[in-house]
Amino acid sequence: MSASDPLTVRPVADFDESRWKELFRGYREFYHLPESEEIVAHVWGWLTDPDHESEGLVAEADGRIIAIADYRRFSRPSTGTVGIWLDDLFTDPESRGTGAGRALIARLQQIAADEGRSVVRWITADDNTQAQFLYDRMATKTNWLTYDAAPAEG
Ligand SMILES: CC(C)(COP(=O)(O)OP(=O)(O)OC[C@H]1O[C@@H](n2cnc3c(N)ncnc32)[C@H](O)[C@@H]1OP(=O)(O)O)[C@@H](O)C(=O)NCCC(=O)NCCS
Repeated sequence: MSASDPLTVRPVADFDESRWKELFRGYREFYHLPESEEIVAHVWGWLTDPDHESEGLVAEADGRIIAIADYRRFSRPSTGTVGIWLDDLFTDPESRGTGAGRALIARLQQIAADEGRSVVRWITADDNTQAQFLYDRMATKTNWLTYDAAPAEG
């Protein structure tokens, strides 16, 4: 990327729908999730609903969105604080390594500072070495494990 194509980060807007959906489909495909336009549309609805907790950021270069990040605030009873949870981060494969992922996380760190939040937190797959390449430079890897329990039946 040259100095004439600065990378900008901004909140997602209604007119981003088509490109955001394209990248979100790519994100789901990356995690081998089955194709579902219903889910893609549902999550887009969350991001564009001011009453929903989920919010979106986009990184743009040359007027084109090259990366997306979805996040929300979460309560942390152990410290009596609120943190920012990064749910989804995805950069167009053609634009990887140009700083978009870093810029999106940096913006979340700025939002956390501006709002007095205590942390920006996310999880990643154990074998996602490409993502960890960036994360290890920007954040501290914790020793916490994630558990998922299924809802009770019946
Ligand atoms: C993880 C991911 C979001 C990183 O996004 P990105 O926009 O490529 O990240 P950046 O360009 O800001 O940073 C990538 C780091 O890798 C380095 N890098 C160098 N060449 C690279 C390349 N060809 N591809 C990717 N990263 C490269 C960059 O220099 C940078 O390190 P630095 O900031 O120390 O220089 C992106 O790889 C991605 O979308 N992966 C698939 C989905 C995914 O794993 N999402 C995260 C789920 S938790």
